[in-house]
Amino acid sequence: MALPTIKPTTTNSWGKLQEHFENIKDVHMKDLFASDKDRADKFTIKWEDFYVDFSKNRITEETLKHLLELAKDVNLKEAIESQFSGEKINQTEGRAVLHTALRAPKTADFKVDGVNVMPEIYAVKEKIKGFTNEVVTGQRKGYTGKAFTDVVNIGIGGSDLGPAMVVDSLQYYKNDLTTHFVSNVDGDHVNEVIKKLNPETTLFVIVSKTFTTQETLSNANTIKEWFLKSANQEAIAQHFVAVSTNIKNVQAFGIDANNVFPMWDWVGGRFSLWSAVGLTISLAVGYDNYDALLKGANKMDEHFRNEDFKTNIPVVLALISVWYNNFFNAESEAVIPYSQYLNQFATYLQQGIMESNGKSIDRNGNPIDYQTGTIIWGEPGTNSQHAFFQLIHQGTKLIPADFIGFTKSLHGNQDHQDKLMSNFLAQTEALLNGKTEAEVKAEGASSDLVPFKVFQGNKPTNTIFINKLSPESLGELIAMYEHKIFVQGIIWNIFSYDQFGVELGKQLANKILQEFDESGENTHDSSTQNLLNYYKSIR
Ligand code: F6P
Repeated sequence: MALPTIKPTTTNSWGKLQEHFENIKDVHMKDLFASDKDRADKFTIKWEDFYVDFSKNRITEETLKHLLELAKDVNLKEAIESQFSGEKINQTEGRAVLHTALRAPKTADFKVDGVNVMPEIYAVKEKIKGFTNEVVTGQRKGYTGKAFTDVVNIGIGGSDLGPAMVVDSLQYYKNDLTTHFVSNVDGDHVNEVIKKLNPETTLFVIVSKTFTTQETLSNANTIKEWFLKSANQEAIAQHFVAVSTNIKNVQAFGIDANNVFPMWDWVGGRFSLWSAVGLTISLAVGYDNYDALLKGANKMDEHFRNEDFKTNIPVVLALISVWYNNFFNAESEAVIPYSQYLNQFATYLQQGIMESNGKSIDRNGNPIDYQTGTIIWGEPGTNSQHAFFQLIHQGTKLIPADFIGFTKSLHGNQDHQDKLMSNFLAQTEALLNGKTEAEVKAEGASSDLVPFKVFQGNKPTNTIFINKLSPESLGELIAMYEHKIFVQGIIWNIFSYDQFGVELGKQLANKILQEFDESGENTHDSSTQNLLNYYKSIR
């Protein structure tokens, strides 16, 4: 069964939301809190070690009611089942979407074309486990008999961002292996990494679903050439492994068939860290922690699949985001983790969210006349408070923000943790309440400065409070955003799992690359042609 193809703006609930928006658009959240002492409790979901407070939003019970009706009107429940049951909901690429199967228990039954994929998944997991243990314990050695000290992940996009973000986020749980990530085709990136490496003790993990990506293959070849300056051809089998669906190209590169970790076309690149693409994660934090990450994600999958929409975290967050994107015309959303460990989290989410939902053709093939994909950005608090928070507090744009915090710090420094948490709590309170003219005056501000010191408040935030940053809770958090992406794609009637938008630039880059050494005719617009000629003249 294909996904529904309902234009959201034609639904009954959309019409109701539009009317309701006119009534609520100028209401201040402060008044909503004043008139309902139970508001925070009503708009909070507690699940496992998650405490999600979405009460600081410009919503009422009526808003939520209409948004939940919208979920019903677009057949969200059926769409979720289509995804989990392995239907080819990535219709434009003719593929199922089953990253959820990668983190399901062995006994689960996920079928693609009628075949249960769990045995294959668990065979690869066993391989990851065995390989990880051999490397971590020093049993597996390099070509001069020394244990490995460094691991280099070579990949880009989904073959880089997920593993890089998770390894960085879980550095507290890391073992002694030093991990490096090479992604950019910028040769200075790979060379900066190479200069830190000893070929005798470095393991290279080439991650590319297609094994055709220019950046990854260029970096892999550069590294191979550098490696072969000290080692001989046979040593490649000990030092290079690959994660890919394209076994033929991997072997052509010279990698031993035993050193290939397969993945499948029903795993999208940006949803692939749960597959063997996460091999570097497993190497960095050990297999058990990698598995705990997957188990956390699976818990969120179960919650998403089974929980009533009203108390379903990804569904509620997705609906609220649609409310701002499509009714308040918010241009972007911020994700602010109050944990330095999540430094790369917003960057990671940018691919997940913007590559998935940055679409302007609907599932019927028609151009869309409403807003889709949200622009996502963010940095950890408190650093971002000293950078861009001015604009969130007093700028002209409405920027809904997710505040993510952990009640416990990992190193247990309570003084720092209390200061961090006081900021975490104070910011959403300040964004909610603002500061009135009367309050500014009461503080004794001179009258000419009063307008500059007023804060309107009424700036929406979600607070996602989690007990502790662990492999499991990180898995839950990532899966929460993955499902939010899916829900929004269903509502906007778009295909979230293709990415044709990245192709055009790739094609043109290949054409231009050839032209650097040719004296062909001018085929570009005058701007591009001038820039190309300029580069050719001085390169
Ligand atoms: O940027 C496009 C893209 O296809 C991403 O979706 C993907 O994560 C990335 O390129 C890398 O692709 P591959 O793993 O095939 O090298």
